[in-house]
This record gives sequence, structure tokens and C-alpha cells, in this order.
Amino acid sequence: MAKVAYIGVGNMGQAKILRLLGAGHRVTAYNRTLDKTRVVRDAGAKIAATPAAAVEGADVVMSSVTNDEASRAVWTGPNGILAGSPRPGALLAECSTLSHDWVTELAGIVRGRGLRYIDLPVAGRPDAAEAGELRVYAGCSKEELEELRPVLAAFSKKIFHFGPAGAGTAYKLIYNLLGVIQVASLAEAMVQCEAAGIDLQVAAEAFTLGYTGSKHVAHHSAVMAQGQRNQPVGFSGRGRLKDSEYGVQFAAKLGRQALIGKAASAVFAQMVDVGMGDINDSELIDALRAIAAKPKVRP
Ligand SMILES: NC(=O)c1ccc[n+]([C@@H]2O[C@H](COP(=O)([O-])OP(=O)(O)OC[C@H]3O[C@@H](n4cnc5c(N)ncnc54)[C@H](OP(=O)(O)O)[C@@H]3O)[C@@H](O)[C@H]2O)c1
Repeated sequence: MAKVAYIGVGNMGQAKILRLLGAGHRVTAYNRTLDKTRVVRDAGAKIAATPAAAVEGADVVMSSVTNDEASRAVWTGPNGILAGSPRPGALLAECSTLSHDWVTELAGIVRGRGLRYIDLPVAGRPDAAEAGELRVYAGCSKEELEELRPVLAAFSKKIFHFGPAGAGTAYKLIYNLLGVIQVASLAEAMVQCEAAGIDLQVAAEAFTLGYTGSKHVAHHSAVMAQGQRNQPVGFSGRGRLKDSEYGVQFAAKLGRQALIGKAASAVFAQMVDVGMGDINDSELIDALRAIAAKPKVRP
């Protein structure tokens, strides 16, 4: 069983740590806000005061934090991961959804220290992590993936190998932009249904059973139709905005258009602008209702 250092005990980090502990791995966790480590500590994780202390002697290091700034802080900041001493030959993986530019820079920094870097974004919400059903989008060598596979088995049901470091994030950003587009266009469709006097429960079922019925549409249309609010946050509007911004940036880096992605990003920017960025992405429907209800300024 591996000695795993886990940096970032947010929704994803907590669920994955609990699975790692359940599979018999030894976990040392670090989180910027100590309070949030209580659940994993009670489940048997050791808690470290800094990322550098957490990675001491680790076989595997994993990080799940918000965005590029957070990742830069936990990897390269004072007492960051790179200030610590994992076991020689350890596998160091960043699992957050980050910009392609930062992930490729980070891979270079880690390798420059003579360490092994694994690009390891995941897909699936925290409940999928809790159930051990994440999908992993790996960017690393085949040999590194084989070494890591027993650890990944604790929280994932399918591992896709896209190529070397950077390839996992490339796919993840393209995949997430498609998801952002689906959720944004669904929210617009639902408020249009409402304005047309169509029952949202009926609309949700019809969207789900029609050719439109992706997993996103099935899940979010049901949540929107039921008017679920104040649920624990699985993934926030701000998170969707971050993903879409990184996705649009990456399309530009590839020299390819992302016109629809930009529009969907603008819709989630509206959700943040009306002060609803930190609640679940499905509640975009309420942000669009609020925007529609605003008195229009006449010229
Ligand atoms: N939720 C999902 O459905 C999902 C699915 C796939 C991938 N992801 C990706 O996984 C990553 C984590 O998502 P999450 O849902 O777990 O987010 P979360 O619950 O909001 O947790 C974010 C984590 O980042 C830490 N953090 C933020 N800024 C920091 C900083 N400057 N320095 C150190 N730590 C910092 C937070 O620490 P504090 O507790 O101190 O704030 C917390 O541990 C994101 O990149 C997200 O896009 C999420």
C-alpha cells in the first residue's frame, strides 16, 4: 500500500482521501484551512501543517485545489510541495483543472528538480469520487501510469491515457468546455420554456428523452425543474467560469475557434456578476431569471 500525500482537502480532495484510506493507503493531508481536515483526520489521515511536511517520504503526491493561483501556491510557495522531500522516484500528480500553460510550466519545474510529474485531471462530481467512480484523464508515460494504477483504483472506475504530461489537461479543458456549453444552453432553454408557459418538469423529461438528453442535460434539467436550492456545492458557477476561461484560452493556443465556448463562458460570468458564483452551477437558472426580471433601461 502506498504512502500518499494529499494537498487540498476541498470537496474532491476529501472524497478521494476517504477512498484512499478505505483502500488501505496511508494518507497525510494538508489543507490551507485546517478546520476542513476534520473528516479525513477522523477517518485516519495524518494532518500536516504545510505541503512540504505532507510530502515527506511520500510514494505518491496528489493535489486538488481551485485554480492556477492555488496550484502555484501549494507547489512552488514557501513550504510548498517542492520544498519537501518525497521518496526518490515518487510520482507527483496535479489533479486540479488548470490552464494548459500552467500545467506545462509546472511539469517543467517538477522535472527540473529531478522528480516525476503526472498530469492527472479527473472528471465526475464529488459524489462520483465518494463512490469510487471518477474518470481519470492521464498525461504521463505508460510506465508511470502502470505504477500509479493501484492508487488510482481507489477512486476511479475508468482511466483514459491521452499521452505525455499536458495531454490529460488538454482533453479535460476541451471536455469541460463542452460541458459548460451544455449547462449554459440548458439553463437558457429552461427559462425560455418557463416564459413560454411550459411546465419545467415536463420540459426536463422531454429534453432528457430527446436527442438533447446528455448526462448533463438529464442531471441539471431535473435539478432545475425541482428548484433545488441551498444544496451542498458539488461544482459552483465560479468553477464553471474558471473552466470555460481556461478552455477558451487553450483553444486560442491551438489556433482553433471557441465561439460557443466564449458565449457559454459569458453566461457563467453573468451568474458570478449577479452574486451567485459560489452556489451550484444548476442554479444558473435563478441567475438568468434575476437578469430577465431586471427592469430594462430605455434609451
Ligand atoms: N467539484 C467537482 O465536481 C470537480 C470535478 C472535477 C474536477 N474538479 C477540479 O478539482 C479542483 C478542486 O475542486 P473542489 O470541488 O474540490 O474545490 P473546493 O471544494 O472549492 O476546494 C478547493 C481547495 O483549494 C484550496 N485552495 C484554494 N485556494 C488556495 C490557495 N491559494 N492556497 C492553498 N489552497 C487553496 C482550498 O483550501 P481552503 O479550504 O483553505 O479554501 C480547498 O482545499 C478544481 O480545480 C476543480 O475544477 C472539481
